[in-house]
Amino acid sequence: MRLDQVSDQWWKDAIVYCLDVRAFLDTDGDGVGDLNGVMGRMDYMAELGVTCLWLMPFQPSPLRDGGYDISDHYGVDPRLGTLGDFVELVRAANDRGLRVISDLVVNHTSDQHPWFQDSRSSADSPKRGWYVWRDEPSDEPEGLAFPGKEDSNWTKDAEAAQYYLHRFYHFEPDLDTANAEVREEIARIVGFWLALGVAGFRIDAVPAMLETAGLPERVANDPRDWLRDLRAFVSRRRGDAMLLGEVNVDPQQLAQYFGDHGDLLHLEFAFLLNQSLWLSLARGEADPLETMVRMLPQVPPDSGWATFLRNHDELTLDKLSVAQRREVFGAFGPEEHMQLYGHGIRRRAAPMLDGDPDRLRLAWSLTFSLPGTPVLLYGDEIGLGENLAIEDRYAVRVPMQWSNERHAGFTTADEPVRPLAEGQFGPERVNVAAQRRDPDSLLQWMRRLVWCRRERPELGWGSVTLVDTAPPSIFAHRSDWEGRTLVAVHNLGEEPTSVTLALGEDVVGVEDVLEARELKGGKGGRLDVELGRYGYLWLDLDRARGGG
Ligand code: GLC
Repeated sequence: MRLDQVSDQWWKDAIVYCLDVRAFLDTDGDGVGDLNGVMGRMDYMAELGVTCLWLMPFQPSPLRDGGYDISDHYGVDPRLGTLGDFVELVRAANDRGLRVISDLVVNHTSDQHPWFQDSRSSADSPKRGWYVWRDEPSDEPEGLAFPGKEDSNWTKDAEAAQYYLHRFYHFEPDLDTANAEVREEIARIVGFWLALGVAGFRIDAVPAMLETAGLPERVANDPRDWLRDLRAFVSRRRGDAMLLGEVNVDPQQLAQYFGDHGDLLHLEFAFLLNQSLWLSLARGEADPLETMVRMLPQVPPDSGWATFLRNHDELTLDKLSVAQRREVFGAFGPEEHMQLYGHGIRRRAAPMLDGDPDRLRLAWSLTFSLPGTPVLLYGDEIGLGENLAIEDRYAVRVPMQWSNERHAGFTTADEPVRPLAEGQFGPERVNVAAQRRDPDSLLQWMRRLVWCRRERPELGWGSVTLVDTAPPSIFAHRSDWEGRTLVAVHNLGEEPTSVTLALGEDVVGVEDVLEARELKGGKGGRLDVELGRYGYLWLDLDRARGGG
């Protein structure tokens, strides 16, 4: 592996920071976060060490789905700034070695989008075929994205006097992504944002976007051909651009979105790993996570996973069994108002883990050492909470807490865009300014974690193997790459535990790189280590071999 390849495939080794511009920092006093606010905190993010900013949708939108209902794919919501501000933001990020990616939401548009308005206006409209219309609703595609909120994927439009397809809300009509003109337009959107400097896209709802069930019959070919074309187009426009897909599907289906030769998505969110991780945390046992690591398909060399602890939506537990889901609900979201759609939890990581510093660090250490590119949600680094008084998934998209001033320093307006977290997780207890001053804060520790992860390319590039250990609470794995090895050991339980690791080689002077501690070596290919309550270790075998 040459080092220039490491740079070309920067996303294999990135640390992604997802932020909702509307909830980050308001600089013009209207209560809504803005692009200028993100720019103003660029040094904060650079200091934290993240290397890629993922901006959730910031385009014009009626905001009925938190901005995922876009009404103009070529613009910026005027409350957030202008295209000029966007370009300045990208430049400010790039100056600090940070890349910017944006959401690409093209499975659907807002029903207020001029394309849809045009499409519904008449059967002869040139945009009629941009959406999917039928005289009668169909029972395809199967399944509902938001059970309890919508009861069908088809809604009758009075103006068009026909039914239209919407895999999400009824105010988000699906584009017919098999239509050649729609495909051309999507490429144009992608080209536009690439020209303004984005380094790639988080593609929303990939399986829905490629789904052909329910579409007019003329779509006979493999919809992945189109994704392949789109990736080729992206790569022509910008060689190092990255496509990160939202793909929450069964294990057998995951590989097809990477393509046969890694020619589709560069990264896929590791939803299954995430759901097993929460089940393991709930049980205090490594088994669910181990089973999933074994079950995941081999990733093509030019692709990878994006690992996360919590994202901006509900914590979806849809791939667990009913009994497993009940366990996770019981441990982390026992009350009904904490749950959503019957399969998810609308809380943030810190409150789910009771703000327990040991357990939070364990969860983050695990997330950052699992195979893939770690993704943080803004505020995770300070243990931001949720506000369950806010409806739906927006409970977790609370304003960022910068200080203990009014509205946490987020805005000078009377009303922030959304209410802040309260109580144990309110700004008096949880804020950036205080944690910056406190050497033992979560923020300082997260910074160390981020920088440690940056120094360990084997975690992003390496192959992962489970390390045999006896205690059920211990999850141990190793990443090997180019002669470098990192062994990570995690105690998912509360009881301090002694562990013998089967390493297959003698080691001396092993270092725990996260906590900067020297450990005793081990002979006969075995190493004995102690793990405290929710303890974690990152062991650098490279150094122990006299390598680093
Ligand atoms: C994705 C987004 C979610 C949005 C949905 C529809 O799942 O993460 O926030 O509501 O797509 O766009």
